Amino acid sequence: MRSHYCGEVTAVLLDKEVTLAGWVHRRRDHGGVIFIDLRDREGLVQIVCNPENKALFAIAESIRSEYVLQVQGQVRRRPQGTVNTNLKTGEIEVIATAITILNRSETTPFPIDEYHDVGEETRLKYRYLDLRRPEMLHRMKFRAEITRYLRRYLDDNGFLDIETPFLTKATPEGARDYLVPSRTKPGSFFALPQSPQQFKQLLMMAGMDRYYQVVRCFRDEDLRADRQPEFTQLDIETSFLGEEEILGMMETMIRGMFKELMNVDMPNPFPRMTYAEVMSRFGSDKPDLRIPLELVDIGDLLREVEFKVFSGPANDPHGRIAALCVPGGAEISRKDIDDYTKYVSVFGAKGLAYIKINGEGAEGLQSPILKFIPEAVTQQILARTGAKVGDIIFFGADKATTVNEALGALRLKVAHDRGLVAKGWKPLWVVDFPMFEKGEGRLSACHHPFTAPKIDDISELSKDPTNMLARAYDMALNGSEIGGGSIRINSSEMQMAVFRALNISEEDANEKFGHLLTALKFGCPPHGGIAFGIDRLVMLMTDSTSIRDVIAFPKTQTATCPLTDAPAPVEPSQLLELGIRIRKDVETEKKDIAQKVEASSK
Ligand code: AMO
Ligand code: AMP
Repeated sequence: MRSHYCGEVTAVLLDKEVTLAGWVHRRRDHGGVIFIDLRDREGLVQIVCNPENKALFAIAESIRSEYVLQVQGQVRRRPQGTVNTNLKTGEIEVIATAITILNRSETTPFPIDEYHDVGEETRLKYRYLDLRRPEMLHRMKFRAEITRYLRRYLDDNGFLDIETPFLTKATPEGARDYLVPSRTKPGSFFALPQSPQQFKQLLMMAGMDRYYQVVRCFRDEDLRADRQPEFTQLDIETSFLGEEEILGMMETMIRGMFKELMNVDMPNPFPRMTYAEVMSRFGSDKPDLRIPLELVDIGDLLREVEFKVFSGPANDPHGRIAALCVPGGAEISRKDIDDYTKYVSVFGAKGLAYIKINGEGAEGLQSPILKFIPEAVTQQILARTGAKVGDIIFFGADKATTVNEALGALRLKVAHDRGLVAKGWKPLWVVDFPMFEKGEGRLSACHHPFTAPKIDDISELSKDPTNMLARAYDMALNGSEIGGGSIRINSSEMQMAVFRALNISEEDANEKFGHLLTALKFGCPPHGGIAFGIDRLVMLMTDSTSIRDVIAFPKTQTATCPLTDAPAPVEPSQLLELGIRIRKDVETEKKDIAQKVEASSK
């Protein structure tokens, strides 16, 4: 149907006959001559329709935006003064000799040819039109280049691309499962995988040695700008390699990709920091290293002060007092400080004390807390934070987790507000994560329960699991967690011990993970791996603000699809076949169940 893509017609083809096919991006009537910008995947080309050819001109006059055309014509240099240097095809135009209308289009709900601020709901409802927009097309093409590069690297390094099931049993990655009812076993459900974690480990036990998969994962969790209920991982597992080899191979892959696709030179090697260090310096396990601000501990200086807000956390083993010095921040207005105070309260901070250094000496300081703090201590704080005239120091005092969250977030916000985010790419490995974290009274796995602890001695686990470190690592890039992985447990005894630490009974463990525990007994090699969030990588590399912009058919913030109207009710006969009855008053039933649980626990 065509000899060339529209976007590929250049001066190389001067005077040649070409046949093109594509969409009418724009039609312009120029006093007797009609110009059509014809668009396809590769770009735009200008078609010229002269009035001498009456039949052709009549067709050209009837053409509207987004009609689908086949155009035959001759390539000609554009007249002087009409060359468009922004366009790959800008030196030439095609003099049409024949036009066939392949299909017509109604007026589209939003224009494709120029940027319009269209509501996202509308964009998603007509996603196939939204995807016609050049900026969306660019993102999809770039995404394909990224996965192509990653696949090629892994293929070249001896990895096998192996598929794993979607209809499977729950694998815990910390989110709710999407469930699929079984028809053949009524009352039973498959879970869609939150990741292929268990299967990739089983593949190592099967001797596949190196595995990868570009794979969809499903997590029913609260959605944010960088989260989707179904998203894509580059999932990787290897046998007989330790942390050093895995980290080395993975950063070589990422470095190579940035060089080839963006001509960016990333550091070699990537910097590494322990979890303890990043939490202390940045209050985050995925710090944005483009930002020069750091948190500084000052709790030791404040144990004796009378100000309870400070002396409390200073003397609490789980407390923290941190200072964040912002160069040039003394000019931040009272109103902005109030706004920052509100901002940190979302993370549980009860206030946001500050000292402005307006001038030299004690008189130069302005702060609501100076009256509570001896001058000598104030001087020590200034010295430790390196604050200079013109700066502001913010303080967080609370449980360490609250301070880290609040000041970690404030660090990002202030830096963005004040243009303190440097340009460029700052990757980082975060290592030595804790094995466990405390949530609602009981321990949960920081990464996932198949991650190996840093010690080999099982008895250590029963002593004090809270301070135990894991052989886990994350790759952060410009403040995003783009990948995470670990060396796995490869003995069933250690796996059981970790389940015990997580308060999972032997019975439960066998019911949920019996297949894995059994497999661990039949010659399991030492193994480990990682998974990268492809959507997040594409989002960063295309400088997109939302993860939805790099996914062809994403879900909304409420996990629905405006294009297909999914999720949707199903036929009663389908439900019957599955043995499912829809409960009418879910809220009342939830309350009843909660009451029963409470009564039985008394
Ligand atoms: P983890 O849960 O850290 O590890 O996930 C790996 C990476 O996947 C991305 N990611 C997401 N992207 C978009 N939307 C989401 N809802 C979402 N959740 C996670 C992140 C993250 O770094 N099985 C382990 C990997 C391993 O141990 O090998 C796992 O899934 O970029
Ligand atoms: P108050 O005595 O409660 O008025 O607090 C004095 C100053 O300390 C105010 O600027 C508060 O915003 C700040 N503040 C109160 N609680 C905290 C806290 N937990 N961390 C940091 N600053 C706080």
